[in-house]
Amino acid sequence: MLMHSFKYQNLSIMNKDLINDAKIVLNNNFQEKGYSIPCKGLYPFQWKWDSGFIAIGFAHYDLDKAKQEIETLLNAQWGNGFIPHIVFHVESDTYFPGKDFHLSKLHPLSNKDYPSTGMTQPPVTGFAMEMIYDIAENKKDVKAFIENNIDKVYLNHKYFYENRDPQNEGLVYIYHNWESGTDNSPIWDDIWATMNPPEYEFTRRDTNLVDPSQRPSKREYDHYLHIIEIAKQHNYSDEKIAELSPFLVQDPLFNSMLIKSNESLIALYKIIGNNEDKIEQLQQWQTKSISSFNSKLYDKELGAYVHYDLRNEKPLRFVSSSSFSPLFAGIPTKEQAKTLVDTMMNKFGADDMYLCASFDPESERFNPKKYWRGPVWINLNWMLYFGLLDYGYLEIAERVKSDSIELIEKAGFYEYFDARKSVYETEKGGYGGGNFSWSAALLIDLINN
Ligand code: SER
Repeated sequence: MLMHSFKYQNLSIMNKDLINDAKIVLNNNFQEKGYSIPCKGLYPFQWKWDSGFIAIGFAHYDLDKAKQEIETLLNAQWGNGFIPHIVFHVESDTYFPGKDFHLSKLHPLSNKDYPSTGMTQPPVTGFAMEMIYDIAENKKDVKAFIENNIDKVYLNHKYFYENRDPQNEGLVYIYHNWESGTDNSPIWDDIWATMNPPEYEFTRRDTNLVDPSQRPSKREYDHYLHIIEIAKQHNYSDEKIAELSPFLVQDPLFNSMLIKSNESLIALYKIIGNNEDKIEQLQQWQTKSISSFNSKLYDKELGAYVHYDLRNEKPLRFVSSSSFSPLFAGIPTKEQAKTLVDTMMNKFGADDMYLCASFDPESERFNPKKYWRGPVWINLNWMLYFGLLDYGYLEIAERVKSDSIELIEKAGFYEYFDARKSVYETEKGGYGGGNFSWSAALLIDLINN
């Protein structure tokens, strides 16, 4: 009995130290203008989905910063409800491609006060707001914040359903791999094979800051830039992008984030009251989205959700950590959830592996060090943890949580981590940027849950 409580006492001291370290990372990455950089050098601006995760971390100890993080992002919203993936709040020569490449001003409704990209990222802001509300002790204060900002998030969802769903399915498309968040996933290799972009001349900055073996290749960047060039030729018109972009994908991760955030907006509108029309609209989107999601993106044979290539009209049949993200949004039936968990444990859950690699470790495309081609990402693990809890898989959820904490303990607050346990005997195991904000923010949230 004594030993037992001693063990737990130690664990909580260790967690306390980790939380303090995480707060230092977050505080150092918070900028005067009221937003956080994901990490120094490599990512010197505000990123859309990062800001949602970061705000959840701040909500545990600095509500003002959590609110500012979201408000600063929403200030950059466009006249059509669109929220960009990067907001270039400052000048910086450590990142390519910057604002002079993206040229968001080409779009007639872009926000001329905030230079940005002309692409977006997974819509996490809605559920981030609900979590901030749940975490915050001062409900009155946070309720006022929700009242002032929720309509902007609603308009962002309206933008998606009205402009990114050409076949009116309730599933929205992304037109660039950077919109997925999972930038260089092997899933996109099949799309790159349909394209033959020019060999552009440009100077990468990321590969001066991070070992190039951990980042996308030059040829992959040619594809990334080419899609943007096509969008720019048409002033980022959604209609033209839907017609011409070689990359047009219904992504289960992106759509899960939208569905999760729809649910949060419904819950928050109920708390603030007087918004029956918006609640009804959100519920309609929700019903249609979940039904199409389960009929179109669920692959029975693989026992997992997959991406759908809307340009080439075919499913992209690969299992990745995105395949399990629908658990977080309550999309699968109980039966589908069981199949998903079995698939995950069979492919990703070996005893000598940390959960959860970002791409199928059994595939020949798996690369344990290269960005989204295999490493573990804390934000995907965090979603998986809550999804597994919701569906009653308590033990596996605990493993995802303790694996995430152990990875950070061993390697530090890295951007991504090697899933192979043996690596940590001889190497650092943490890759990409260091002192990475969302790894710190979500660690705080995980330990507090
Ligand atoms: N994560 C991207 C990059 O590596 C952009 O969102 O630059």
